[in-house]
Amino acid sequence: MSPLLKRMGGFVGSLAPSSRRASSAWRERHWIEKAVAGIDEALIVTDRRGRILFLNSLAETLTGWRFAKAYEKHVDEVLPLTDERTRAPLKASALGAAPGDAVEWTRHSVLLAKEGKFVPIEFRAAPIQGGRGAVEGAVLLIHDGSSQRRVEEAIAQMAAIVETTEDAVVGVTMKGTITTWNPGARRLYGYRPEDVIGRPFAVLFPPDSGELAEIWAGIEQGDAVLNHDTEHLRADGSKIEVSVSSSPIREADGRIVGLSSIARDISVRKRAEEERRRAELLLKLGEVQEGERRRIAHELHDQMGQHLAALKLGLEGLTGASSDALRVQNLLGLVKQMGHDMRRIALELRPTMLDDLGLVAALLHELGEWGERTGIEVDFHHSGLEHHRLPPATETAVYRVVQEALTNVLKHARADRVSLVLERRPDHLLAILEDNGTGFDHEAVVAAQDTERRLGLFGMKERAESLGGNLQVETAPGAGTTLFVRLPLPAEGE
Ligand SMILES: Nc1ncnc2c1ncn2[C@@H]1O[C@H](COP(=O)(O)OP(=O)(O)OP(=O)(O)O)[C@@H](O)[C@H]1O
Ligand SMILES: [Mg+2]
Repeated sequence: MSPLLKRMGGFVGSLAPSSRRASSAWRERHWIEKAVAGIDEALIVTDRRGRILFLNSLAETLTGWRFAKAYEKHVDEVLPLTDERTRAPLKASALGAAPGDAVEWTRHSVLLAKEGKFVPIEFRAAPIQGGRGAVEGAVLLIHDGSSQRRVEEAIAQMAAIVETTEDAVVGVTMKGTITTWNPGARRLYGYRPEDVIGRPFAVLFPPDSGELAEIWAGIEQGDAVLNHDTEHLRADGSKIEVSVSSSPIREADGRIVGLSSIARDISVRKRAEEERRRAELLLKLGEVQEGERRRIAHELHDQMGQHLAALKLGLEGLTGASSDALRVQNLLGLVKQMGHDMRRIALELRPTMLDDLGLVAALLHELGEWGERTGIEVDFHHSGLEHHRLPPATETAVYRVVQEALTNVLKHARADRVSLVLERRPDHLLAILEDNGTGFDHEAVVAAQDTERRLGLFGMKERAESLGGNLQVETAPGAGTTLFVRLPLPAEGE
């Protein structure tokens, strides 16, 4: 006996003999209803020619036929079926009609025509076999698949979203094993699904990250952690900045059976933010610097310049008349020196020499003064620049970078020798500034948090990059420091 018939109990045996009389059909039906009350599916029982003997109330709802009308009607009329894929009609009477011919639940491949519409159904048919194995009829169990279908469609849609999203979607069991890996995860982390499914979720986290423990603590409490910016590890060992949301996955009974992690690459966004922040900072700095220079230059011109001029005139008037001509001469010398100093300061503030005589002359002057002031030996070699002026922005940039680099040498390097090489290459200008000082851990400086970050190296780099060039630093503790600045130049003769 098939499991279905077992489930239906012994009523089948008593079905056939009394089913012919309509009057007893009702009694029969009530009796069978009671017998099969536990089955919450639509149930149809036919005789061996496919005529309906029994229809429970769920089958009435599903087919739209009352039992009284359907009784002894052919099942193909009451239950008109269509193959969903081929759209060919199917005969319900042909299913489960031969001995041993049980048909299992169909998976939504069958449609029932109802009120002009198709309804997806699942059904199972089994022959009723009499004493000597002859088929005496069939039992059909039918299940309305529309709500299930809707759920499945929603799931399929969800799956399609997961498949196509840019985000990395990863499913993980409570034991921490990766079970789901979408194409977004493949792109973000660089693992193929076959390389990573079954492996620990921990492979995505840097070894020193406490994040995983935090996520699990949250998940065990049933909490989601949303939009958390962090770093994950890619297959090649590199780190990637991501924004991650982790949430518990629950069974229908509420039990937490795993977690889902959705990660989005934010390195691009972060970089853009950083760039914007830098540009703003630089702009602000430039403004502040300009303002300050303007103020000092005015001060020098309006105050000191006036006073010096007056002093000079006064002293000149005294040279003939004074009994102490020598002292007056000395004072005049002092005034001259002050004028000289003032010009030097003004020059540093705004390198007019740069505009008037060009980069090489301005640097020669600057380096000479710096060497004298600091007692550090300075070398300067240049090539290809003798008869050329460079674009003003390039000259200013090199001049300022050299100034800043010399300040660093003085502040940090404890060097006793500095050399500057300036070379005009076919399409760029190369400046190499080398000191024989202490050197430093450049990576640590670069990696320093924003709050600790200094402006010197950063500013030089920005200056070079803003002109389409770059700054390269070669240094190590104890090994001196060399800066390479490359700035693009228009090709010669242009
Ligand atoms: N030539 C050098 N020799 C040794 N250490 C250096 C040299 N140049 C830079 N450094 C190191 O790199 C760090 C960063 O330099 P940077 O010019 O960016 O900042 P800073 O000089 O400390 O401050 P700021 O320039 O903003 O006044 C310095 O603090 C110093 O430790
Ligand atoms: Mg500095």
